[in-house]
Amino acid sequence: MGLLEWLPSGVYGLALATALAFGAFCAFGRRKRHPGEPPLINGWIPFLGEALNYRKNATEFLLTLSKKHGDIFTVHMAGKYITFIINPLQYPIVTKSSKYLEFSEFADQISSQAFDHPPTINEKYPDLNEHIHRNYQHLVGKSLDTLSDNMMRNLQIVFKTKFSQLVDWEMVKMHKFCFSIIFEASFKTFFGRDPYNEDYNVTDEIGEKFLKFDASFSYLALNIPITLLGPTKKIRKELINFFNPKKMEKWLDVSKVIQNRIDMLENYNLLSDYDKAAHHFAFLWASMGNTIPATFWAIYYLLRHPEAFAVVRDEIDHLLQSTGQERKPGCSIYLSREQLDNLVYLESAINETLRLCSSSMNIRKIKENFILQFEENRGVSLRKGDLFAIFPPILHMDPEIYEEPQTYKFDRYVENGKKKTTFLKQGKKLKYFLMPFGSGSSMCPGRFFAMNEIKLFVVLALVYFDMNIMEDKQLGQGKDRIGLGILLPDSDIIFRYKLRS
Ligand code: HEM
Repeated sequence: MGLLEWLPSGVYGLALATALAFGAFCAFGRRKRHPGEPPLINGWIPFLGEALNYRKNATEFLLTLSKKHGDIFTVHMAGKYITFIINPLQYPIVTKSSKYLEFSEFADQISSQAFDHPPTINEKYPDLNEHIHRNYQHLVGKSLDTLSDNMMRNLQIVFKTKFSQLVDWEMVKMHKFCFSIIFEASFKTFFGRDPYNEDYNVTDEIGEKFLKFDASFSYLALNIPITLLGPTKKIRKELINFFNPKKMEKWLDVSKVIQNRIDMLENYNLLSDYDKAAHHFAFLWASMGNTIPATFWAIYYLLRHPEAFAVVRDEIDHLLQSTGQERKPGCSIYLSREQLDNLVYLESAINETLRLCSSSMNIRKIKENFILQFEENRGVSLRKGDLFAIFPPILHMDPEIYEEPQTYKFDRYVENGKKKTTFLKQGKKLKYFLMPFGSGSSMCPGRFFAMNEIKLFVVLALVYFDMNIMEDKQLGQGKDRIGLGILLPDSDIIFRYKLRS
């Protein structure tokens, strides 16, 4: 891959100019390692440092550095110094050192630059960040049950509109298919419906725009100016205005988590309607941006592995039979949280998908100089202002933990018919063995709902349809989302479906 091949065309000039300007500066001002600090890898390219090597193949790059420098080292990338901790047995240290490692401000900065809301950690908006986080309690417990039940109902409505037109095999692009179903059902579950427009399809209205914004998300998260990203600025504005509070007032069946968010934001007089709308848009993206590709990959792998498909379908059929439910297309299905939880092969297949496709870096900013004690009698000095990171794909691809880690094994997380939760490294049980949803203070608050909705999608697709992939090509993973979440497929793929015979 060429030097800046990964940036969209308009960004080349700026990045190159920045690199050259910093080059002059860095030639004289390269950082030096202080005594007690982890090994420092500066890279030879001014400003960018090792960013391009990381980008080429992050896991391989970090493992190669680890062979040379050990379990902890600092890498210079795009003007930042990031200390990586490689050995998964040491991951819990991050949670234990939370006094020195902060996430909120860092996440707030990325969220405000991507979604165009003012930073929430600001004395103009007292406690706003805390209130936003407190609101996520509506994604667990009883509220989670209600959300999952509503999602189940909405998914069935959307699936039924798909197959009401089906007579024979229908050929479609698989990502487009998954997107249109999850987007529609999930939007209705969270944001409700417009009572003045009952036949309204939100995917037709904003789906395309969402996908275009989604394609630019990684650049915004990297703080590339939006003016360099073609139509993204206009599209983002239109998406945000879709959530204008005056318009949202009229929506019915709004979920508790969103209604509470609306009411809470109303208490901040200094937030404009646009600012409030931007917060709702941020939630929309958080709730879909990872779930859609994760659902896509879950179905893709099942269709590529007929033995997995058969076992998972069998497990679902058995559950429906044992609960007296029909498994014909069109019949209504109800599964409680407990029943969903008991689908161990389905859960394992989804976990295996997340292991292979997730790439969320768990990142923290170092609040003050401190010594990180990461083994008995072994500590390293870390510098205020640097970043500290765990890169979970290292764990997910470790052959000592996961035999043949590149291979999809749908039942990896099942042992003797039960969920398998014991995975070993150096003979010791790992506290963290699967980390698609982050860890500690940055753990995804929507993770339980996400798992439920992916399960529900797979259940309905397998109960209602027979499906085959129609192209031989093996899909690869796009690089845009490295470090940021579930990787997108590098292209779409054609599959066909018909009502289950
Ligand atoms: C497979 C699906 C999903 C994955 C892999 C995922 C992963 C993540 C990760 C890794 C983070 C932390 C981000 C960071 O470290 O910067 C996060 C944050 C977040 N996620 Fe998810 N997520 C998923 C689905 C969802 C869903 C369905 C919702 C909503 C119902 C949701 C809501 C959020 C929110 C609101 C945050 C921000 C939390 C904060 O500000 O602290 N996510 N997600």
